[in-house]
Amino acid sequence: MSDTPKRSWAEPFKIKMVEPLKMTTREERKKALQEAGYNTFLLRSEDVYIDLLTDSGTNAMSDYQWAGMMLGDEAYAGSKNFYNLENAVQKFYGYKYLVPTHQGRGAEHIISKILIKPGDFVPGNMYFTTTRAHQELAGGNFVDVIIDEAHDPTSLHPFKGNVDLDKVESLIKKVGAKKIPYISIAVTVNMAGGQPVSMENIRAVSKLCRSHGIKVILDATRAVENAYYIKTREKGFEDRTVAQILHEMCSYTDGCTMSGKKDLMVNIGGFLAINDWDVFEEARNMVVLFEGLHTYGGLAGRDLEAMARGIEEAVQYDHIRARIGQVEYVGEKLKALGIPIVQPTGGHAIFLDARKFLPHLKQDQFPAQTLAAELYLESGIRAMERGIVSAGRNKDTGEHYYPKLELVRLTFPRRVYTQAHCDVTVEAVEATFEARNQMKGLKMVYEPKYLRFFQARFEPLA
Ligand code: F0G
Repeated sequence: MSDTPKRSWAEPFKIKMVEPLKMTTREERKKALQEAGYNTFLLRSEDVYIDLLTDSGTNAMSDYQWAGMMLGDEAYAGSKNFYNLENAVQKFYGYKYLVPTHQGRGAEHIISKILIKPGDFVPGNMYFTTTRAHQELAGGNFVDVIIDEAHDPTSLHPFKGNVDLDKVESLIKKVGAKKIPYISIAVTVNMAGGQPVSMENIRAVSKLCRSHGIKVILDATRAVENAYYIKTREKGFEDRTVAQILHEMCSYTDGCTMSGKKDLMVNIGGFLAINDWDVFEEARNMVVLFEGLHTYGGLAGRDLEAMARGIEEAVQYDHIRARIGQVEYVGEKLKALGIPIVQPTGGHAIFLDARKFLPHLKQDQFPAQTLAAELYLESGIRAMERGIVSAGRNKDTGEHYYPKLELVRLTFPRRVYTQAHCDVTVEAVEATFEARNQMKGLKMVYEPKYLRFFQARFEPLA
């Protein structure tokens, strides 16, 4: 399926600065977990050994990026780092106009407010938490149009993130194209397990939507990872560079929202990029209210520079191959141990299938939340729930959404952990797997109104 070497690859960098890791005892972790309400988001980072909560903002910057940080032009307006970023976005992503934002959700907020009218429908290839939340806050209704295979952890479809064109067509028939301002395509699809979308599919979606006057907005957060999958899995792209593939993917869309904290390996930053002048004009007006002036969007000049340089580094073949290779390495080991994971493994993370792991728990006993807590207790490794807690409640009925996928995400920051950390992680998951029959589930005792997974608190079921 891919040409990623399985065993004898090594990290394509050497380590110039280190950050010590703290080991804890089981007793200490038990206390920390109780204090955190059995929610890994509420743990203190210093109580974590290997932090696989997210690949967002947790990446290691290169010496080239750090050098750029020293060249921050901290002028309030017209910083030269803004123009460097604008050039990089135009060159690698191909969009005309750039509005920087403090991170991805800043861009989602702005584009949702500009394009969505109350009562509109916004199709997408599976929801992402912040993306859907902003679409709903703007009065939109999210409609999932991903292919059915994406909801099946065992399906080996090579492009499980693809949009189902029939689902888009039936939505257009049902509500009318006028009620669909845009389709939101995420590449890769985080909640499906980091699954890619094929070039053929992006092209077809674009053709269909444009013929109805529906815009295509890309969530480009992990688009470089998607480009690598196209290169290694889709016929005809073997000899194209990752940069060329990225550029072509974007060419079928009208703009993108971006969380630079992933692909671009910065600790903070994002942007909205768009081809339509009128949308840009409005975004440039709005960003001043919510983020900051349109040449800094809530970021320091140095942050803009680090992101501009991250764009150049992200598309380097050695980097992206090792990045995805590391995740694949962990996936192969877990599969060999018979541990249920989403397959094929995705770009940024391994997703443990909590339904199969803990078949004795009902979904409202929060199997994935339970499993993430138990993994921490066992090993000090921090993962994240991606199941019923993350899915939240239907805004009209107030009921839990019951997603088909009930997953725990082991997310790998870029350039941070070595193969030895990966081996330790595999051993920890194995130990948790062996103890699975004793796990009893959780009840939710505090639930915040928005994006509840971040701050909800739980207690063990007796
Ligand atoms: N889109 C995708 C696909 C994401 O994964 C994220 C963030 C965002 C948008 C929002 O970007 O965090 O910069 O505001 N995902 C993080 C994660 C939080 O852990 O998966 P942001």
